[in-house]
Amino acid sequence: MTTSEAAKEDAKKVPAKDPWDLPDVSGLVVGVLGGTGDQGRGLAYRLAKAGQRVIIGSRAAERAQVAAEELGLGIEGLDNAECARRSDIVIVAVPWEGHAKTLEALREELAGKLVVDCVNPLGFDKQGAYALKPEEGSAAQQAAALLPESRVTAAFHHLSAVLLSDPEVAEIDTDVMVLGEKRADTDIVQALAGRIPGMRGVYAGRLRNAHQVESLVANLISANRRYKAHAGLRVTDV
Ligand SMILES: NC(=O)c1ccc[n+]([C@@H]2O[C@H](COP(=O)([O-])OP(=O)(O)OC[C@H]3O[C@@H](n4cnc5c(N)ncnc54)[C@H](OP(=O)(O)O)[C@@H]3O)[C@@H](O)[C@H]2O)c1
Repeated sequence: MTTSEAAKEDAKKVPAKDPWDLPDVSGLVVGVLGGTGDQGRGLAYRLAKAGQRVIIGSRAAERAQVAAEELGLGIEGLDNAECARRSDIVIVAVPWEGHAKTLEALREELAGKLVVDCVNPLGFDKQGAYALKPEEGSAAQQAAALLPESRVTAAFHHLSAVLLSDPEVAEIDTDVMVLGEKRADTDIVQALAGRIPGMRGVYAGRLRNAHQVESLVANLISANRRYKAHAGLRVTDV
């Protein structure tokens, strides 16, 4: 038997991982940096509706409070630093342009926290959206480089903020690709995604593979423009 045949035989002996075999995350507080924006508000709304305790963060506490009051569902609004301090899981939902500066300033508050980056570094020109190439490889890798004491993961890139925020939409029919270095952390993020009706978190590799996931949003935007849709993704056979 060759080495690769032996490896295949060994792989067959390991039972397939059930994508729904995940920890209970219902007691964890979720903060959203840049939570006053479209994506952050949409995620805050869906997670709070699913019963999660959610804090919206903003550069200005008053803006966060206004957004939180508008959304209701027990959502709180604080400045980004206080939001990070009080949360167990912190979703980064600021524009790519403000990504590095925001995270650098919150290094202390985010130490030890599970950080979920959903930032898509994109450019736009006459031909539509295109992927930018961050020096670190991806937004998620930039976050990991800037936050050495945090547990950085990446997820929620392919969601439509329009669907997330629409109370008429009962279920968000999509998979969420979750990336990170530690399975315990990606499991928590998958579980968080799974709290939202219709949504499922699927492990999609380590952060070095985040660039493709972030970039794919340019393709989804192209599909959305052509078909006047809010395209999502499904990973089949999992
Ligand atoms: N929109 C979507 O459908 C979608 C889907 C998936 C992923 N994403 C990703 O999610 C992130 C947020 O998207 P969005 O559409 O919600 O963006 P957005 O509305 O333009 O910005 C989100 C919030 O970030 C804060 N912000 C703006 N400029 C900033 C800066 N330079 N530094 C720090 N904070 C700043 C603002 O909040 P305050 O002024 O209150 O601080 C703003 O409300 C982006 O990186 C995007 O790639 C978006």
